[in-house]
Amino acid sequence: MTAPRHFLDLDRLDGVTLRRILDRAVAMKRDRDAFRDLLRGRTLAMIFEKPSTRTRVSFEVGMRQLGGDPVVLKQDDMQIGRGETIADTARVLSRYVDAIMVRTGGEDRLHELAAHASVPVINGLTNESHPCQIMADVMTFEEHRGPIAGRVVAWSGDANNVAASWVHAAVRFGFELRVASPAHLSLPPALLARAAAEKGRVVCVEDPAEAVRGADCVVTDAWVSMNHMGVEKQARLDSLAPYQVNDHLMGLAKPDALFMHCLPAHRGEEVTDAVIDGPQSVVWDEAENRMHAQKAILAWCLEA
Ligand code: CP
Ligand code: NVA
Repeated sequence: MTAPRHFLDLDRLDGVTLRRILDRAVAMKRDRDAFRDLLRGRTLAMIFEKPSTRTRVSFEVGMRQLGGDPVVLKQDDMQIGRGETIADTARVLSRYVDAIMVRTGGEDRLHELAAHASVPVINGLTNESHPCQIMADVMTFEEHRGPIAGRVVAWSGDANNVAASWVHAAVRFGFELRVASPAHLSLPPALLARAAAEKGRVVCVEDPAEAVRGADCVVTDAWVSMNHMGVEKQARLDSLAPYQVNDHLMGLAKPDALFMHCLPAHRGEEVTDAVIDGPQSVVWDEAENRMHAQKAILAWCLEA
């Protein structure tokens, strides 16, 4: 039996494969009807160990648009919530469904699921990464501004799971990524070392102005992620306050720079209303493109 095609992280796939998936996503967005039977008879299980609006709805609707059936499983409704192992869950679900999407905590849970599943596993967010989001974000950038290769993307804020997937994307899609964050909230050194070893252009700084100056795209995310519940919230907010994306910071980027945010946004914290609701913001396109990018990811995983 051949190994299933998992979609675990962008750095685990080559640039040609990722580009083909994005091309398919664009085609799927352009002509929904042409793909309506692509996954007929296939079922996707979606495990949520954390809340979600976009990931849940975009995968569920996307699967239906391809003619397939989604099954949503929340942690508290599953035996996993009572201690059944991830490995046993993977073995059982593999007998029922054709693919598994999982949103979970530490990436070790994702990898354990993938190791024991005989069907493809898709990462729907872990504490460490969010690859489906960044596929949609690259698609959105290119929809508005053409090829992302050679362009400059600036991140300002908490260097979190979403920022980590931007690092993977910078390497695979050939753009420069500048990440501005407080030193104690910066990206894991091992992640940066891997990107450097693959000749990725990733620069980490503490000054948001330095990162954003002349950038083609400015990105941020919530200052308190789902895995930060229970940590000292006020201390995070205080140290991240200088990284807010507001009119002043956007004014340092190129005049036609895009603003992106994976959402949910905490308006008035990491981004002002003026920026997220302003003419440079493409956040609603990003949210829509989650669905098209994920349809193409599902098609790739299922070799359809
Ligand atoms: N961006 C994103 O993954 O949103 P949800 O948490 O609503 O799924
Ligand atoms: N960094 C955020 C992303 C939410 C989509 C989190 O992990 O909570």
